Amino acid sequence: MKKISVIYWSSGGNVEVLAENIKAGAEHLGAEVLIKHVHYAKVEDVTKADAVAFGSPSMDNNRIEQEEMASFLKNFKELNMENKPTVLFGSYGWDEGQFMVDWEKLMIEYGFNIVGKLAVQESPKEEEIKKAKALGELLGK
Ligand SMILES: Cc1cc2nc3c(=O)[nH]c(=O)nc-3n(C[C@H](O)[C@H](O)[C@H](O)COP(=O)(O)O)c2cc1C
Repeated sequence: MKKISVIYWSSGGNVEVLAENIKAGAEHLGAEVLIKHVHYAKVEDVTKADAVAFGSPSMDNNRIEQEEMASFLKNFKELNMENKPTVLFGSYGWDEGQFMVDWEKLMIEYGFNIVGKLAVQESPKEEEIKKAKALGELLGK
């Protein structure tokens, strides 16, 4: 059974909705899914997973959340991520998804293999919920 970890930061719940739907998609294909707010996440949650999904809003001047998410991800800078299949997801207010472009570059530098991305404006619409589920299925397959 494939092990997937979904790790996210959310305060208003928009990113959390995406996280829950990625989880549902992966479980639909029979994967075992660990889902955690990054505050509670451990390095092993990522290193031991077959594939991961990370979620963040655009915050702090069109960047991923800096205090917890960016700090957590720095742990992987010096570790070998062996091109682990990774999905990035998140929500923005006004940056039109620029935070995701910068985030993808950073994650490639850290050695992750970005296989899918989803950036939505504020709360996800029905079509975007479907995309989140499809990304979960992509990881779970
Ligand atoms: C304190 C704060 C800072 C924000 N900064 C940005 C920003 O720099 N750029 C942007 O596009 N949206 C910004 N937003 C909007 C959020 O990215 C957007 O509301 C997102 O849906 C929040 O996700 P959440 O509900 O999962 O917390 C900010 C929102 C808050 C509350």
